[in-house]
Amino acid sequence: MKDNLQRPLIGVFDSGVGGLSVLRAIHTLIPAQPTIYLADQAHVPYGPRPLKQVQAFSEEITRYFLEKGAGLIVVACNAASAAALHHLRETFPDTPFVGMEPAVKPAAESTHTGVVGVLATPATFQGELYASVVERFANGARILQDICPGLVAQIERGELDSPDTLEILEKAILPMLAQGIDTIVLGCTHYPFVIPQIRAIAGPDVRVIDPAPAVARQAIRLLGERGWLAKDGPVGHHIYVTTGPGSAFADLAWQLIGISIQVEEIRWGRELVI
Ligand code: DGL
Repeated sequence: MKDNLQRPLIGVFDSGVGGLSVLRAIHTLIPAQPTIYLADQAHVPYGPRPLKQVQAFSEEITRYFLEKGAGLIVVACNAASAAALHHLRETFPDTPFVGMEPAVKPAAESTHTGVVGVLATPATFQGELYASVVERFANGARILQDICPGLVAQIERGELDSPDTLEILEKAILPMLAQGIDTIVLGCTHYPFVIPQIRAIAGPDVRVIDPAPAVARQAIRLLGERGWLAKDGPVGHHIYVTTGPGSAFADLAWQLIGISIQVEEIRWGRELVI
């Protein structure tokens, strides 16, 4: 689908509100590009689910986006990228995909202590993508990992500052600090929403890497190669869809990225096939 200015639509999806951290970066860099964002909140969190199941959800969401006329798809979810990116590229060879991979490369290149912490969900750590990123790019750096149990659910509830959220973060980060990390990689698109809390625990000397701007730049590159980039013109039409309750999503979008939106609710088994 192109809008009336012939600007192709980008589909962006996540299990929930996490992908809004990526969408925000896309809107900042290319505000004229029309977008459709899908939050699969009927199934959030993806992280503890079997990879095959997350792959099946991702395939159906891709079919939904293609029906809506999306040209490029951004898998704004590390868990779905780990579970499905390879499969999606094979299944939909004519569609360009941009996925998430934990930013181990820039972390390993810039660490002074040689110790890097990665915060992500179990699906991401289990996927081949993560293993291959560490193998190719760790470059001798020690990589520490934590799955931050329950953190995605806390962020989905908008509880960024609650004692439970801070406890999850402290349990993850304090042992890493004790082992000398100077860099934290955010390997889940929900986690940029607690960067202030992470910084408060980790202190000013620890660098926190949010991959969202790099992912937005990669989307721009792919759009540009195809002549699909909406460089100027009025702000694009932005559509928001959730498989969960729409009003709760709208409230969170306001809380997390300060946008006031209408949200369409869709259902698995009706609009989405599985
Ligand atoms: N935001 C997601 C990610 O980047 C998914 C988290 C989840 O649903 O567990 O991994």
